[in-house]
Amino acid sequence: MSTIFAYLNGQYLPVEDAKISPMDRGFLFGDGIYEVLPVYDGKIFGLNAHLDRLNLSLKGIRMEPTISHSEWKIIFESLVAKNGMGDQWIYGQVTRGVDPIRNQEIQKIVKPTIFAVSYPKVWPTKAEQSIGLRVTGVKDIRWKYCHIKTIARIAYILMFQEAKDGGFDEGIIMNTSYAFEGTSSNLFIVRHGVIYTPPQSSQLLNGITRDVILSLAEKNKIPHKKTKISERDLLKADEMWITSSGRGVCPVIEYNGIPIGNGKAGPLWARMWDLFENETREFSLSISH
Ligand code: PDD
Repeated sequence: MSTIFAYLNGQYLPVEDAKISPMDRGFLFGDGIYEVLPVYDGKIFGLNAHLDRLNLSLKGIRMEPTISHSEWKIIFESLVAKNGMGDQWIYGQVTRGVDPIRNQEIQKIVKPTIFAVSYPKVWPTKAEQSIGLRVTGVKDIRWKYCHIKTIARIAYILMFQEAKDGGFDEGIIMNTSYAFEGTSSNLFIVRHGVIYTPPQSSQLLNGITRDVILSLAEKNKIPHKKTKISERDLLKADEMWITSSGRGVCPVIEYNGIPIGNGKAGPLWARMWDLFENETREFSLSISH
């Protein structure tokens, strides 16, 4: 593999040469936030929406943005160019920086650690994705601010691994009454031609892909509704999808071993896949820029 370039605190360098201190609060405490952005044909999809969410995440952990949207744009676009254009995914992270003494208290003077890297990506074809995923419900063990995209991912890691160990592709995070999202994705179901997704709250990440799907549904007059979704609703669904910047819109064909609908990727998923695919090339929605 050719050299992958990263950005660290003002410098572009091969990712293996990017070094941070073990006293970085991101390393010590998971004290930081991040974004994952998809790149199609060398163009960053949903840049401003991702950067708006990055700033909301910073605010959520009591940090001020030190990099403007236009500065981030330069960093991300430079990485995409250095790493060969085409299809990629970008990772961007901000931590509260280095504290010489391990001290939980937030210090007044903060010099954040800013890190970003991008990698080539081969997006799955429609045929590949139509194979569909098998998912299971996992018990919600997260903290209460799940709208913040924190780098402290241990709860998601454990829930995902629980799903993996059971032979599933993704875990759907549930409390005793409702499903919220996947361990790295948002959740949609379809019933009688209507698309449903759980409403935005602090119990799920406000997914950029989720917003794109809802905007595409609106633009194309496909009925859609934000509503709480119970496990019963999941089992009665005609279709189930998960969405994320790393996967686009992906069909789910089984929940806990029980087929969703006829156990195959559904017709509304096929339509939404086309609309989404087109959007990633055309950038016709304001959220795509
Ligand atoms: N994760 N919910 C959770 C818990 C997530 O981790 C993600 C994305 C999403 C989807 O958000 P978006 O559409 O903005 O990517 C929802 C990223 C891709 C990751 O951590 O790799």
